[in-house]
Amino acid sequence: MSTDSATGRVAVITGASSGIGEATARTLTGAGYRVALLARRADRIQALADELGDSALAIEADVTDRDSLVAAAQRVQDELGGADVLVNNAGVMLLGPFISDQRAEQRQQVEVNLLGAMTATEVFLDQLRDGGGDLVNVSSVAGRVAGPGGAAYHATKWGLNGWSEALRQELQPDIRVIVVEPGAVATELAGHITHEDTREGIEAFVASTAIRPEDIAEVVAFAVTRPQSVSLSEILVRPTAQAM
Ligand SMILES: NC(=O)c1ccc[n+]([C@@H]2O[C@H](COP(=O)([O-])OP(=O)(O)OC[C@H]3O[C@@H](n4cnc5c(N)ncnc54)[C@H](OP(=O)(O)O)[C@@H]3O)[C@@H](O)[C@H]2O)c1
Repeated sequence: MSTDSATGRVAVITGASSGIGEATARTLTGAGYRVALLARRADRIQALADELGDSALAIEADVTDRDSLVAAAQRVQDELGGADVLVNNAGVMLLGPFISDQRAEQRQQVEVNLLGAMTATEVFLDQLRDGGGDLVNVSSVAGRVAGPGGAAYHATKWGLNGWSEALRQELQPDIRVIVVEPGAVATELAGHITHEDTREGIEAFVASTAIRPEDIAEVVAFAVTRPQSVSLSEILVRPTAQAM
């Protein structure tokens, strides 16, 4: 049920094992939500669920594996009564030049960031429709601007934005679609970049500029706790010191 009261609402968060997803789980739990924590690193989400207590359920799931999402949705239905909010947060940012050596990273970004969000949404859609729900897609400032050295990542986030806007119109008024576009945030995201020069440059930029994952989590929590008649459709959240 989508109301301004969080009591009893259930939020499913993909990529809850670290960074923005983990912070969002903590913030929503603090706001009275029960949360399903989805990610591949089962040890991380189980430790978080143990810390959050009865309000949290850890479910190992890979957003590129539809069967694991279907199994997760069944557990959310059986153990939490269904999802009111889906936060499509799972993502990878494997920046680098558009060269053949990077083709696996290019494909992985599309499969996780874009197709993973689409699959999770498709799988949880009936639960979100039941009583009215919220779909939060964690995009990026990289979905608003583009530049060299990360073409595939930009493509996933621009794609996520276009898909979200079409879905917003298609699913209203039953489901609110909320796009959150962070700028630089201090998480482990950049640490997975395999192209060494790119990783060093991005890590230095993040270290000098980034805001905290909690800053994004608070924006997500604010958006989903507005009255059902109020939709924050697109929210760009940058560090004040970030130019682009
Ligand atoms: N940090 C930033 O500066 C920034 C800026 C703009 C947008 N974003 C976006 O914010 C989102 C969260 O990123 P973050 O910064 O918090 O980075 P992070 O700490 O690396 O978190 C990424 C999360 O995605 C999960 N994930 C990756 N591949 C997955 C898969 N195949 N199936 C399920 N989960 C998967 C990871 O969990 P497992 O590895 O355990 O599966 C992890 O929990 C991403 O969509 C990212 O593009 C981040």
